Amino acid sequence: MVSKKFRTRSIASGIAVLALGLAACAGSGDSGDSASGDSSGGGDDGGNISVGFSQVGSESGWRAANTKSIKDTLTADAGFDLSFSDAQQKQENQIQAIRSYIAQGVDYIAFSPVVETGWDAVLNEAKAAGIPVVLTDRAVDSKDTSLYVSFLGSDFIEEGKKAGLWVLDEYKDTTEPVNIVQLEGTTGAAPAIDRAEGFADVIRQNPNLKVVASQTGDFTRAGGKQVMEAMLKSNPDIDLVYAHNDDMGLGAIEAIEAAGLVPGEDIKIVTVDAVHDGMQALADGKINFIVECSPLLGKQLVDIIKTLNDGGSVEPRIITEETTFNQEQAIEALPDRQY
Ligand code: AHR
Repeated sequence: MVSKKFRTRSIASGIAVLALGLAACAGSGDSGDSASGDSSGGGDDGGNISVGFSQVGSESGWRAANTKSIKDTLTADAGFDLSFSDAQQKQENQIQAIRSYIAQGVDYIAFSPVVETGWDAVLNEAKAAGIPVVLTDRAVDSKDTSLYVSFLGSDFIEEGKKAGLWVLDEYKDTTEPVNIVQLEGTTGAAPAIDRAEGFADVIRQNPNLKVVASQTGDFTRAGGKQVMEAMLKSNPDIDLVYAHNDDMGLGAIEAIEAAGLVPGEDIKIVTVDAVHDGMQALADGKINFIVECSPLLGKQLVDIIKTLNDGGSVEPRIITEETTFNQEQAIEALPDRQY
């Protein structure tokens, strides 16, 4: 496995001027904060491991918790010099940030790809510079798996299946059609693709379960509300909302209530994530079922990087452990919920 000791630094030092320019460009999509140290440190920080982390954005409660987990764990005290950038849900910002990390000569790059496609060129640049890349949370569809050392995150197809299984069971005795609307995540993002696929695979077992409308709400609360408002106008008989995350489900609740209907009763709601606000809505009976997707990836990312840095090897795929929640379970879990 590639370790810091064996990497060539000459590329980084040879393009120092380019580094400064690109780092400045990355600033447009950068949150401007760094969990520790100076983001232009070029990987030479007196012994700490320098990591460039390109985050998707700040679209949801899940994302906020994920960012906190990364920043809370890749700290100077833990031996890291973290450069953090927020891509504001734009792939071009992420590519720009990754190029700036390559130019800085960081020891490791980690990122959560906003969409699945279009990463081969920049990942080949990281590989040519000898910088190991760890994917967190979301996958890329690159055929060449040597472009990254590990992918740490959830099994999104499984999450979609868990949502589908709840729906299948909930309507097992129904002889009438059940009208389902789906609030999709960001178009082209792994969780949007896979959660739709897993759900569809399961609900097809009952021909009464029909997805009558499906549209992206971009994983945001505002997006979920807007799409739900439109869906309520064009589909008068909606029985169930399947939202690819809590935030869109929470937006849908606002739209349903504004339409004079009772979320969780007149229209059932199933979501994914189990962030605090979603769990509270489940406890309150406004959401009926939540599939957990854990954002707490920081600790495992630290373990991966430290193992690599010690010359060890890591599993190419590390799947996060997750559960599901009904109303009673949400009430029980809420007091100790970390996010
Ligand atoms: O990639 C994980 C997904 O991204 C979460 O489910 C969603 O809330 C976030 O925006």
